[in-house]
Order: sequence, then structure tokens, then C-alpha cells
Amino acid sequence: MKNIAIFASGSGTNAENMARYFANSESIKVAVVLSNHAHAGVHARVNALGVPSFTFSKEEFASAAPILAKLTEFAVDFVVLAGFMSKIPDALLDAFPDRVVNIHPALLPKFGGKGMYGHHVHEAVLAAGETESGITIHQVNAHYDEGKILFQATCPVLPADTPDTLAQRVHQLEYAHYPRVVEQLLATL
Ligand code: GAR
Repeated sequence: MKNIAIFASGSGTNAENMARYFANSESIKVAVVLSNHAHAGVHARVNALGVPSFTFSKEEFASAAPILAKLTEFAVDFVVLAGFMSKIPDALLDAFPDRVVNIHPALLPKFGGKGMYGHHVHEAVLAAGETESGITIHQVNAHYDEGKILFQATCPVLPADTPDTLAQRVHQLEYAHYPRVVEQLLATL
């Protein structure tokens, strides 16, 4: 059994979707969810599926030791970021080389970098007059949104779109592809 840890800061719809996707898998398990917000929606979503979740402060994430201890406790093989809005410390990247991935709600390298998360991304895409957006799944390195791109999928940006309607379309792409891509990556470990 390969164990995944998901890091999430917010609502956690991607974390829930991934936990559901692997719920009946005999080879991959979402073993634990870590968050930097005690009141994030992700806790209730995954706890309802029997996945334990824990909250650590920003300082604890930065120092890495308590995070690494929790990942060891759950025998984690692979780390999946799903709407995680805190920087990943080098010590964690060193402990999981090429084993930390993120999903970004736009087509990197455009609309990435510090401050580009959630609705900020969709607002920027609309403000730039783009006719296409999508998702990027990439390896995580020490720089925001600059790790090796592993997968992209696109969707149209429609003239009447608001940040919310575009976010909904992008979320559908995330649900359709993120678990499947993670499954493929784990098969190569
Ligand atoms: C997702 O759209 C994800 O791509 C984005 O946050 C959302 C989280 O939604 N991540 C980033 O913007 C990272 N820069 P969720 O909590 O419902 O899964």
C-alpha cells in the first residue's frame, strides 16, 4: 500500500475528491490530511470519509520537524498539495524528492507565483482577456509554481465568465484529472 498525505488550507473539495477516488483502492490510500487552518472545510470533508486530519501552525510547517514526524507516523510515500497556501520548507522537499506535487488553477507559467492562488488566479485570467484557461499539475520545488510541469488540461474562458463561473469550470477539470495523474505517478515509484 502506498500512502498519500494531502496538504490543504481551504474548502478541500480536491482533497475530498481524491479521498473518494482512492477509497476502494487496494494499492493507494489517502492516509492523512494536514492543514494550516483549524477551521478549514477540508477537515469535515475528509473526516467524514474516515481520513484523519491535523492542523499545524505556519511556524510548525516552516520548521518541518513536526510535519516530518506526522508523515513518518502515517508511513507517507507521496505528498499532494490541494489548495495549500503555505510554503513547503526545503527539509520536506529533501525528504520527499520528486514526491511532492501541486495543482494550480491556470496554465503555468502564466498566472503563477506568490499571491496567485484561488480566485486571484481567475480574476487575473479574466483581466488579461484570455480565451483559454485550465489546470497545471507540477512538481513542487523551492519556488512557487516553478517545478517541472507534469500535466495540463485546458478549458475555454467564456465572454460572460465571472471569477466564480471560471473557477467552477476549472474545478471540474481538477476533479477529473488530479487523482488519475497522481495514480499514474505513484505507479512509477
Ligand atoms: C483549487 O482550485 C486549487 O487549484 C487552488 O486552490 C483551489 C482549492 O480548492 N490552488 C492554488 O491556487 C495554488 N496556487 P479546494 O480547497 O476546493 O480543493
